[in-house]
Amino acid sequence: MRHCLIGPAVLTLFIGNSALGQDVDNGRQIAERSCATCHRIDMSAGKASRAITFTAIAAKPGMSDDILSSFLLMPHVTMPGLPMNQNDARDVAAFVMSLKK
Ligand code: HEC
Repeated sequence: MRHCLIGPAVLTLFIGNSALGQDVDNGRQIAERSCATCHRIDMSAGKASRAITFTAIAAKPGMSDDILSSFLLMPHVTMPGLPMNQNDARDVAAFVMSLKK
């Protein structure tokens, strides 16, 4: 009878991982911690940022979750803390794209 239990368990895992496995809130937290020193991560008033704002990144033509997350998986001279792990990269990408109007 054991195999009967596997189906629902897998299903639950799958549903628990919904929304493409991305967690926008986790992405926001990571962004506040490791990106906000250089990038404006939202439209709230604040001092001018050194780098392009996340809203501007999200608005770029052709920008997508996939492009963003692969960017975050590559080492980048101007940005310390990259590459990040794949889950974090997907979450941050989802957060950035959620800023798109
Ligand atoms: C030390 C400052 C610094 C930090 C911290 C930083 N960035 Fe950047 N970022 C930059 C600069 C400067 C550029 C533009 C020049 C470049 O691409 O090298 C940039 C460019 C980018 C781009 C490319 C935008 C384009 O033009 O397509 C993305 C995406 C990006 N950053 C995301 C992030 C994310 C996500 C984080 C947090 C995990 C982060 N950055 C943290 C300085 C930083």
